[in-house]
This record gives sequence, structure tokens and C-alpha cells, in this order.
Amino acid sequence: MASEVLKKAREFEAQYGPFIGDDKRPAFHLTPTIGWMNDPNGFSIYNGEYHLFYQYHPYETKWGPMHWGHVKTSDFLHWERLPVALAPDQEYDKNGCFSGSAVELPDGRQLLLYTGVRQVREENGKLHDRQTQCVAVGDGLNYEKYGLNPVISAEDLPEGGSPFDFRDPKLWREGDTYYMVVGNRPADGSGSVLLFESSDCLSWEYKGVLAACHNQFGRMWECPDFFELDGKHVLLTSPEEMTAIGLEFHAGHGTLCLIGKYDRERCHLDRESVQAIDYGLDFYAPQTLLTTDGRRVMIGWMQNWETSNCQPANAQWFGQMTVPRELSVRDGWLYQNPVRELEKCRSYQILYRNVLLNGMTTLQNVRGRVIDMTVTVRSASQNSMYGWFKVNVAGNGENMTTVRYKPECSTVRVDRTRCGFPHDIVNVRDFVVRPHGGEIKLRIVLDKYSMELFVNDGEQAATTVIYTDVSADAISFESMGSVIMDVEKYDLIL
Ligand code: FRU
Repeated sequence: MASEVLKKAREFEAQYGPFIGDDKRPAFHLTPTIGWMNDPNGFSIYNGEYHLFYQYHPYETKWGPMHWGHVKTSDFLHWERLPVALAPDQEYDKNGCFSGSAVELPDGRQLLLYTGVRQVREENGKLHDRQTQCVAVGDGLNYEKYGLNPVISAEDLPEGGSPFDFRDPKLWREGDTYYMVVGNRPADGSGSVLLFESSDCLSWEYKGVLAACHNQFGRMWECPDFFELDGKHVLLTSPEEMTAIGLEFHAGHGTLCLIGKYDRERCHLDRESVQAIDYGLDFYAPQTLLTTDGRRVMIGWMQNWETSNCQPANAQWFGQMTVPRELSVRDGWLYQNPVRELEKCRSYQILYRNVLLNGMTTLQNVRGRVIDMTVTVRSASQNSMYGWFKVNVAGNGENMTTVRYKPECSTVRVDRTRCGFPHDIVNVRDFVVRPHGGEIKLRIVLDKYSMELFVNDGEQAATTVIYTDVSADAISFESMGSVIMDVEKYDLIL
């Protein structure tokens, strides 16, 4: 039976959500039905369809007591809206149903595992979160919280583990056994990812520390996800309080991918490499699922805590999800590219080959705001290297967003300083890319309110929100020195 808190949220979104027309939303990136959205949750297959839940505060475009919004899709691009799945309506989750995951049970029901947050006043008078792991079971539409929640709480933590920072369980099934990774703050004050095991998702046994931060990469590790891919084991996590190392690991809320070998005996990931997942300004808390045809697909919150105060005037929704991305690992490196379903939406191909450029140009019919465009650039001369190459998108004379490549230092810069934000915030990201002899391939997936950049066939990605007026659709190319470029542009018709 739906609680009053859940009914109220469902009524609210049913009443006001439809007033936000499709013209006020991105063409194919998911936004909340109404109000605020952060992390993706419960990204999984149920009854043959892809379900996605999200951290949701329907009443305002600000973070608040967390609910779980709910959608489903068959192609990762068209999303069917479903009613709010979870509301903070129990003593153990009265301050929020935080991030978590979902799995289909053998009996055909869908199980959600989430972090219940309850604030308690400590002896010193301070209010502190108590975070526990809780279960709800349902039919893909309505969910009943388990009567004996929480299923994992402070007593189950290893010594020194903080009961305040213990959140974001990611669940999966292997044979008859369920496993779960969850973020926790250990005694050293930084972050760790704990592994638990269960036969029924209700009673859980602590197995060990899968990976720990040791104050090396940020502090509290949020939203872990762990899976096998291309013969390696991959742990994704989103650290808080990250400090940049050179041009790596942007400060603030960062994202990490740890690749290595999983030692089942020790329940430990023996790390071989660490890389950032995304180099843009707006990417956090990604989660993955395994499709029936064997693809590991990741979706992330296309926003970050540092930038989430910058909202367009009179916003009725805030927060978007990235385009879902197919992951692969090659030579110890994580690659990501938009799901192949996006290619089915490509129309009106415009192709230019071997365009010689030195200075600035526009190309006939190369414009648009909902597009998929790949630009490949190389030096025009064997003896001298060009200084830089730029592509400017979402332009209108006053506004534009720029991607620049400098071969000498092998850096890419994404710059949205002039994208038309209501006030100035952090707008520039530089990152190092692998040198390919001055040649670079930039795939730009542009929607009305975002630009996702995939460099060199998915070696790196950089995700950036823009709120430039949607009529700004000019695209131009600039170089210092002579380059030869190929441009392949499609309109995306959804
Ligand atoms: C990450 C996060 C999670 C938490 C959720 C709360 O963005 O802080 O750790 O579960 O957001 O909305």
C-alpha cells in the first residue's frame, strides 16, 4: 500500500510534470519528470526492459529528501516515465532514500536495494546521518519495503567503518549468489568499497574490503560499481574531495576507474591501473548494466555537485543523464562510446573530406543543435606541426562552446565560458590525450543542453552541460597553422 508521502509525490508529478513540454527538454537525454534529479539508480533489466531509477526531489529544482524517480526504455534513448518508486516514508529512511541498485529475482519480482538515511542527534548535539542498506520488492511499478529493514547496518561494518558514510549499494547476481559493493568511510577518514554476499538479498555477510582509497584519490568513495569486462575486473567509483594531480582527476567530485584482477580468496581487487572516467565538467556517479546481448552499458549523472547551483532562470527540471555508453577495456584502458542505438537516429549525412584549413571557416550545411558529428584533423604538412585546432558549436555570434586540440602538448580543452550561463562558474577543462602524430578524432554528441565529447574512438570522454539558447546552432572550425580535416555530421532525429 502506497504511503501518504509516496502518494503525495506521485500526485504532484502527475499534476505538474505534463506541463513541461518536450520542447523544454533535451531531445534524447533523460531529465526528471519534474524538479531535481541526481544519481542514476537501479539501472537493470526487468521483464526484458531496461529500468532506470534516479535520485529525485520532485518539489523543487534543488536537492531535498530523496525519492526514487523511475523510467524504462528499450533503446536507451526514448524513456517511458513511470510513477515515483520510493519515497522517504519510514523511520529508517525518513531523511532520504539514497542511491542503490536493482535486480530481478528468480520468482519474477524486482528487488531494489538502497541506502536509507535517518538523522540522529549525537551526544554533542550535532545532527548526523545514519546510513543503512534497505530493501523494497515490487512488480516494476509498485514496491513494498521489507518489514525487517534495514538489512545491513552499523553492526555489519568492519572495525572503524563509519555508520554516517555508508551508502550506495550496487548489487549483482552470480549463479545462486548475490553480491554487493557499497561505499564506506574507514578509520583513516577516506574511502573504501566493501563487498557483501547473500543468498536471498535479505541477509548479508560481510566479505572484505574490495578496494580502499588510503587518502590517495579523494576521500569518501561514493557510488561504486564492480564488474568483469574483457578479461579484467573494473571498479568505478566517484570520490568526494578529490585533489587534481596535474591535469588528471579534477578537483571536487571526481570519477575513478580502477582496472585490475579480482582475487576471490581475499575478496580484493589487485589494482593495475587507475584512470578518470570522464574529463568534463558535468559527470558523476555513473552506474552500469549488462544488456542481454552482452554489452556493459554505463549511464552517469550529467552534472556535478560543484556546478549544480548554476541553473537557467525559471527551471522546472534540473539534472540530466548522459547518453548511455558502451564500455570496453583494451590494453588496460577503459573505452566508452555512445550506445550503438544512437546511430539508428542519424539522418541527413553531411560529409567533407580533406578540407584544408588555416584560419577560420564554416562549412555549408554543417550546423545544428541535436547532432552527432565526428571531426578528424591532421597536420597539412610533413615538416611542421600546426599550433592548435578548434571546433566551435552552439554558436550565435555571442555564444559558443569550444573544443580545442593542441598537438604540441597533446591537450584537449573544453571551454563553455561563452555558452551563456546566467553567472560565471568553472567553465574550462584541459586534459591530456594520447598523441597520435598530430591526428585527432573528436566525436561531438550535441543535444539542446549538453555536449558530450568522445576522443579518439572513445579513449576519453568529456561531458559538459550548456544552457545556450537552442536557436544557437552555428558550427565553425579554426586552426593556427595548416590542417586537413574530415567532417562527418548527422542530425539526430529521435
Ligand atoms: C552521490 C550521492 C550519493 C548519495 C546520493 C544522495 O551523488 O551523494 O552518495 O546516495 O548522492 O542523493
